[in-house]
Amino acid sequence: MLKISVLGCGYLGLTHAVCMASLGHEVVALDIKQEVIDQLKTGKITFFEPGLQELLDANSSRIEFTSDVSRVRGARVHFLGVGTPRSLQGKAADLSYVRNSVLSLIDHLGFSGETEIIVGKSTVPPGTAGELRAMLEGVSGVDLVWNPEFLQEGNAVNDTLRPDRIVYGTHNGEANWATELLDECYQDILDTGTPRFITDFATSELIKLAANSFLATKISFANAYAQLCDTVGADILTLVKAIGVDERIGEKFLGAGIGFGGGCLPKDLAAVQAIYADKGLEVPGALFTAVEAINQDAHHYVSSLAVSKLENSGGKKVAIAGAAFKANSDDIRESPGLRIAKHLLEQGFDVVVTDPAALGSARKALPTATFVHDIRQAVQDADLLLVVTEWQEYKNLDPADLAPKKKIVIDARNCLDVNTWKNHGWDYTGVGHR
Ligand code: UDX
Repeated sequence: MLKISVLGCGYLGLTHAVCMASLGHEVVALDIKQEVIDQLKTGKITFFEPGLQELLDANSSRIEFTSDVSRVRGARVHFLGVGTPRSLQGKAADLSYVRNSVLSLIDHLGFSGETEIIVGKSTVPPGTAGELRAMLEGVSGVDLVWNPEFLQEGNAVNDTLRPDRIVYGTHNGEANWATELLDECYQDILDTGTPRFITDFATSELIKLAANSFLATKISFANAYAQLCDTVGADILTLVKAIGVDERIGEKFLGAGIGFGGGCLPKDLAAVQAIYADKGLEVPGALFTAVEAINQDAHHYVSSLAVSKLENSGGKKVAIAGAAFKANSDDIRESPGLRIAKHLLEQGFDVVVTDPAALGSARKALPTATFVHDIRQAVQDADLLLVVTEWQEYKNLDPADLAPKKKIVIDARNCLDVNTWKNHGWDYTGVGHR
């Protein structure tokens, strides 16, 4: 087993640190935010992620949480799991955290007495790994491998321990002692037959961006067709099922509704646009500009549907079911549902928001809305119910348990059973689906 360090205790870093400890490695997990480390030291994870708390409980003896970077001394593998948020100036990714992480490591490398590697897991534009490796010039016995992470919130533990693939980018695209050391770290995962790709830095960096921008493209494709379906009286759910049985297309990530949000897809799609623009590739880059425009339009479309159902705002109450950007998450970053809530508030509606996991952060983000824990309470006397997050609890709702003023529901995720709601006398509207 290896001693390893993980820099960054956000979604990516903390999940990786805990999963590596579960494989038997000794892990030092770092974050520059003292409050994050203070909470992790109490044994409690800092975000909602199914299975992660239990995995930490079972492996806490092998993880040390610290903000003191010198504690990485002696580790042979140093993972970079810090964020690459959208920069304040524009669409490109802000690389300051990855650069600072490498800088902060330099004085503490070489203490294991053996070779060591820095392994980048963050999502970065092409050229970054090469730039970071150049910062290590003169540090002997240390190399850098780019190893992007593909974890999905809500399924993060499974995606880390049972990934679809493992990608290693090296400076010359070849396997070497550094990839062998990383193999040792991932031995249990590789032993299950996980495909592993060894390639150059640029390809490894682009694989992650291509995966996320492809997923974004599929979602916008579905949303583009959903509006057309509404216009011509067709049904998006049947359409997607019928095209999705063709294996070349596949039905996953063709869920139409309010568009994608979260900490990755919007940011990475913006970064991809910045890369194409930077390289002067305007025509192919226009694909991603259109994907983003359709995504923005998706939640405007749902807002307009709501406004047209309500006719005017005077004293009207809208119950919004969901605040998290997707189900099984407490993350509200770029949440399309909260954007709709904000828009309706601006239009003068009385907006009541409920969510099983994200109420605390939603309340801070949208202080002028009303927040309640119980969906039934939210719907009480409402003129419209708008379902924006596909929580199982909402899918299971019995319309007979609800006491709205008007029985109007907009199912912005196409996740409710149309007939159940219609049979209870509700005016049901989905997105490209009735
Ligand atoms: C995503 C990628 O899936 C993951 O591989 C990558 O490592 C990080 O980014 P995540 O941000 O957790 O993961 O969310 P994901 O489950 O992909 O959903 C992204 C957004 O798309 C959500 O807002 C979701 O509601 C929306 N979505 C997803 C749709 O609108 N329709 C779909 O069919 C699927």
